Amino acid sequence: MDLEMRQPLIVGNWKMNGNLPESIRLATSLKNQFDDKGNIRVAIAPPFTALYSVSIALAETNIQLAGQNMFWEESGAYTGEVSGLFLKDIGCHYVIIGHSERRQYFHETDEQINLKVQAACKSELVPILCIGENLKERKAKETLSVVEKQLKLGLKDLAIHDFDNIVIAYEPVWAIGTGETASPEQIEEVHHFIRGWLKRFFDAPTANMTKLLYGGSVNPDNAMDLMKINEVDGLLVGGASLHPEDFIKIIKFEENA
Ligand code: 13P
Repeated sequence: MDLEMRQPLIVGNWKMNGNLPESIRLATSLKNQFDDKGNIRVAIAPPFTALYSVSIALAETNIQLAGQNMFWEESGAYTGEVSGLFLKDIGCHYVIIGHSERRQYFHETDEQINLKVQAACKSELVPILCIGENLKERKAKETLSVVEKQLKLGLKDLAIHDFDNIVIAYEPVWAIGTGETASPEQIEEVHHFIRGWLKRFFDAPTANMTKLLYGGSVNPDNAMDLMKINEVDGLLVGGASLHPEDFIKIIKFEENA
């Protein structure tokens, strides 16, 4: 395993929370408490309207910025959309793509998600592709086939070099915002499957450098145990990332050992 390439990554997804003053306060509090030892990569994804101000608040820190979504065209008559170039322009490094809330509430398809992943790579953003099964699919023992389909369609037509910078987040839908974390066995099974799939469809070096995050009810108490799971390279944190003290404890998971 290439440890340098798979340096742990912890991303806070603020979702649709925080007006401008709240976002700046949250980012500033995070910055003040962040003791950067260079061992963990950290990013936050505020709402679009706060991205620029948060980028200024975080200037000269190693906390990176992520968009929560993007459109696949670079510019044009697409009212209400935001392109990868615009995200890059205001200092984003990552962009979350295909989050289950976008799939569920905005009916994003794997095909659209694939166009976004391709456009993110073209804009030199690191896509964080979210995949994961819902409760019905898990109960029907369809988890691996659902994940496989999302990978196959979501990563279609990507060039090997796009994988220099791609992150995959496994977020079981039933574990998001429910307080119910997937078990270590469930997470390891899916992450192992994803890594194996990447090896088969691309190659071993590509698979080995792709970061696999887990997301779904991550909190300061379970972060260390989640990070100990084989093939978990980082965490995608929702609710707990809105509380700087909790998010900092998650980032410092190693100190709870
Ligand atoms: P919670 O951590 O609130 O369960 O949300 C997870 C998530 O959706 C992160 O993208």
